[in-house]
Amino acid sequence: MLVSDPSPTSRRPVIVAASAAMQRILDIARRAAASDATVLIQGETGTGKELVARTIHDQSERSGGPFVAVNCGAYTDSLLASELFGHVRGAFTGAVTDRAGVFETASRGTVFLDEIGEMSPTMQVKMLRVMQERLVIRVGSSKETHIDVRVIAATNTDLVEKIRRQEFREDLYYRVKVVSCVIPPLRDRPDDIDPLIDHFLAHFCALIGHRDVTLAPAARKILQRHAWPGNVRQIRGEIEQLVSMAADGTVLAPNDLSLELRGETAMSPMPAAPQGSAPPAAASIGTDRSDATYQALLDEWTRAVIEERLTRFAGNITRTAQSLAISRSTLYALLKKYGMHGLDE
Ligand SMILES: Nc1ncnc2c1ncn2[C@@H]1O[C@H](COP(=O)(O)OP(=O)(O)OP(=O)(O)O)[C@@H](O)[C@H]1O
Ligand SMILES: [Mg+2]
Repeated sequence: MLVSDPSPTSRRPVIVAASAAMQRILDIARRAAASDATVLIQGETGTGKELVARTIHDQSERSGGPFVAVNCGAYTDSLLASELFGHVRGAFTGAVTDRAGVFETASRGTVFLDEIGEMSPTMQVKMLRVMQERLVIRVGSSKETHIDVRVIAATNTDLVEKIRRQEFREDLYYRVKVVSCVIPPLRDRPDDIDPLIDHFLAHFCALIGHRDVTLAPAARKILQRHAWPGNVRQIRGEIEQLVSMAADGTVLAPNDLSLELRGETAMSPMPAAPQGSAPPAAASIGTDRSDATYQALLDEWTRAVIEERLTRFAGNITRTAQSLAISRSTLYALLKKYGMHGLDE
């Protein structure tokens, strides 16, 4: 396992990067850190965009300055403008004092613009000016202030598609994407899964004060084969839950895994059915099933439906059976057949 920070005493976050793809990301991060260029980090949810942004900051000459993250999708336009650029007293109701925005407070540091794809057209125009001129004007003021920050932006949406739909400005895109870093989803870098499991097992054991919690080979195999739609955050959550429920010294078996993982033991990975959705359509089932028998497909479908209902009703057998209009004994028989479990009332 290769880690971005070799010093064990440092509090810097660790990036697990065993795959060639993540090694390339670390390489881009290192080169970006040596410059002051704006960086655009793209990747699905949970792939580690913020972690990489922090790493670039930590490795850069600005590491002594602040790292300030702003989620551009979490504010209305006027609040985001005030958050980024600041405001003067009386600029709007509630603006009782002058206040600096993050472009000023993060001076000599890094501003992380998360979910930049969510910025409105109006805010995009304002950001373009800031990026071009390195000047901000507090809301309600006319005075320009020079800023000294590096900008790192992130998005989990396809900005090129947004440009095509005229929802994102092409000129801002090129201003932001001076250095481009695209983090692949975990399913495209399976070499990282094992090291991530071990990293999080060690991390949460240490946090809880356990010496050792391990995975039985069969349980580990399930984790290795999982599609991980929530990427690294989802693995982290799964291991956190496993370790916090386990006594010290436990060897975790497949039955200890969450329902989502257990539902996939016999077949290849399949996206989790969203709540209340129809059963997975053949086209969405995922990997190649051109040779699967009718019975195997039916089993897979049944398992997915039961799993989704059980999750929805928090494992409650009676409510799950009622919602499927089958008897409890039929449901028990199906659970037994598919090696699944509900919660006995
Ligand atoms: N390669 C990695 N090694 C160790 N931990 C990782 C790695 N990638 C991600 N993580 C951890 O996974 C979690 C999610 O990462 P992060 O918040 O950076 O993802 P993100 O891409 O910003 O997600 P979102 O789009 O949902 O905001 C964090 O706890 C982070 O520390
Ligand atoms: Mg994030």
